[in-house]
Amino acid sequence: MIAAEEWPPPFYLAPGPGGHGPPGRGARGRGWRGRARRRFGLCARPRGRSIARVTVLEAIQRSAEFLAKKGVDAPRLQAELLLAHLLQLPRMRLYLSFERVLAAGEVEALRGFITRRGRREPLQHIIGSVSFCGRELAVNRQALIPRPETELLAERGWMFLRQCAPVPPRPVTALDFGTGSGGVAIVLACQCPAAEITAVDISSAALALARENAARHGVAARLRLLPGDGFAALPPDAVFDLIISNPPYVPSGDIDRLQPEVRDYDPRAALDGGADGLDFGRRLAAEAARWLRPAGRLMVEFGDGQAERLRAIYAAQNWVVEEIVADYTQRPRILIARRAGV
Ligand SMILES: C[S@@+](CC[C@H](N)C(=O)[O-])C[C@H]1O[C@@H](n2cnc3c(N)ncnc32)[C@H](O)[C@@H]1O
Repeated sequence: MIAAEEWPPPFYLAPGPGGHGPPGRGARGRGWRGRARRRFGLCARPRGRSIARVTVLEAIQRSAEFLAKKGVDAPRLQAELLLAHLLQLPRMRLYLSFERVLAAGEVEALRGFITRRGRREPLQHIIGSVSFCGRELAVNRQALIPRPETELLAERGWMFLRQCAPVPPRPVTALDFGTGSGGVAIVLACQCPAAEITAVDISSAALALARENAARHGVAARLRLLPGDGFAALPPDAVFDLIISNPPYVPSGDIDRLQPEVRDYDPRAALDGGADGLDFGRRLAAEAARWLRPAGRLMVEFGDGQAERLRAIYAAQNWVVEEIVADYTQRPRILIARRAGV
């Protein structure tokens, strides 16, 4: 047995059948231990202390206890996901491997992961990717981690594009305003192979990530990525069937109260929606019509408690709000509008 307080800070156990790699090379930072330490940012094992045997189940339990103490949500799930990622197994396979003894390199690597998660670094940053609409996207601190509710936005977007039937025929077009890591734009391009997608973002670093993700999913040729401040990034003749956006919508004063995973790791420019969180809602309501085809749609994600104020903002700017779509938790989340009088 190992003591809970030993996980993940110094966690050195007696040698066991898991095998601990070639002896005698870790102390000077060479060999597999040195590589593991460099990769995961671990400190060296003190002299005279040996690494001991820990099973998959013990590792999960100790990790979950540690993460719970650090205030991490769903600590057991987080521990399992990190261990499954480390062992390159589907999470459910861990349940068939509870008695498996971890190799020392695995223990050290897991310690690194759990230490980072305990500091409230998002799981997705530790793993380096997130699944969005069933597609793996690289993520890092340069862009917001795409959220499950935004999958619904993307889905409504591709459903609309698929039923567009321009006469005479031409490629349908969409603009993703504030694309971040590119998720929405990439999914639209994947789901609508005849569509031409443009995506803008004020952050060049986020666009670099979006470019990498577009290449990973084979849609780079149909995805135009433009840096700049909203519609100012577009060429003057641009026009779209769909303008879709998950803009920053957190009221500035609320950002400091967000979970550390969001507050400290998502870029502020991806969160900050101004004093009432509606700056981008107002901007899209005022500026989007100029870039939208007459039969086009505007689809915008928004935050809790913003639905009715946004509805009024759009109505005042001559939009017909067709639908307010609720997310998976039944909270109003997406506004769908068309231009009035067309
Ligand atoms: C909430 S994040 C959404 C990112 C991505 N669409 C998603 O759903 O994961 C908002 C994005 O808008 C970008 N942004 C903020 N201000 C902008 C502006 N003035 N013009 C263009 N993009 C902007 C941010 O850099 C950020 O990537």
